[in-house]
Amino acid sequence: MRVLVTGGAGYIGSHTVLQLLRAGHEVVVVDDFSNAKPTVVGRLEELAGQPVPVHAFDLADGDKLDVLLAQERIDAVVHFAGSKAVGESVAKPLDYYANNIGGTISLLRAMAQQRVWRIVFSSSATVYGEHAPVPMTEDLPTSATNPYGWTKVMIEQILRDVAVTDERWRVALLRYFNPVGAHGSGRIGEDPSGIPNNLMPYVAQVAVGRREELTVFGDDYDTVDGTGVRDYIHVEDLAAGHVEALQWISEHDRAVSTWNLGTGRGSSVLQVIGAFEQASGRTIPYRVAPRRAGDIAASYADPARAERELGWRAERTLVDMCADTWRWQSTNPEGYPDGQD
Ligand code: UFG
Repeated sequence: MRVLVTGGAGYIGSHTVLQLLRAGHEVVVVDDFSNAKPTVVGRLEELAGQPVPVHAFDLADGDKLDVLLAQERIDAVVHFAGSKAVGESVAKPLDYYANNIGGTISLLRAMAQQRVWRIVFSSSATVYGEHAPVPMTEDLPTSATNPYGWTKVMIEQILRDVAVTDERWRVALLRYFNPVGAHGSGRIGEDPSGIPNNLMPYVAQVAVGRREELTVFGDDYDTVDGTGVRDYIHVEDLAAGHVEALQWISEHDRAVSTWNLGTGRGSSVLQVIGAFEQASGRTIPYRVAPRRAGDIAASYADPARAERELGWRAERTLVDMCADTWRWQSTNPEGYPDGQD
């Protein structure tokens, strides 16, 4: 297939581009580089051993999308592009609704216009909201606790509604748990701008000496050791899930499919610290602070549907995730370079 990957220069997008190419697909990337560095592209080409066509524009530009879909004869879209910082979304809700929902609407209009009916969407376990029982199954009700989360809930609904309008639509909603890790080469990985919001990049920056200590948000949850429990999934396993989902929706007649992508195993913050120390040989100094607003005690997937239907299962362990994060962070301590690589 010829696959358009929106947000293909981003963290999960870039890993997925490589796996789509490896699976024999042709890939075209669209990314506005609002949260990605242009140097990613050269590294993707180096790893892929072939040119990766990239178009730098915002999805809101529907005219450009129409032209791109038509000229490139696109068969399917994997849609990652969107803003994803929870705290920022609380401060700037309109930016989040405009960018994430506006971008998706523009994309779906162009797809319908150009008769492109297959879309794999980057959703999140955040759609299970605050009070979901674990392990989380796909049929739980959806809700959210912040504007970022609501954009995921709303975009899922928009996709379900649009899928009704033409029987050719095939939609995959992929609900990611906590993606971490990096490509085994250490050449691409997660490069958050500013202070990392998420645990793994923060731990990695402490390990490499960019930050003094980790703050552990709460040790009084009802969990194995009192710290928050999450289902960390290696970004390479996650990327493989996209390739399988795309194949599946191309071969089956179900209009909308929802799959959790997680390992089914939860790890606490202290367990992550321990695994990272083991993988890196570095000590991670940390301090316990009060809980972070909006955090839940435990989140992990029931990944049975993806395994049953897609034949997909996350293979990599927490230590693999830490080792690959460390390879990336220690060889790129400041992330991607700004200018020439
Ligand atoms: N944590 C710390 N210190 C930090 C960062 C995180 O102790 O500096 C803890 C959190 O309290 C939580 C765990 O580490 O217990 C994981 O936190 P992350 O921020 O890495 O991940 P979240 O599960 O909070 O966030 C993820 C996705 C979001 C999504 C959210 C919804 O990254 O996109 O799940 O639950 F919105």
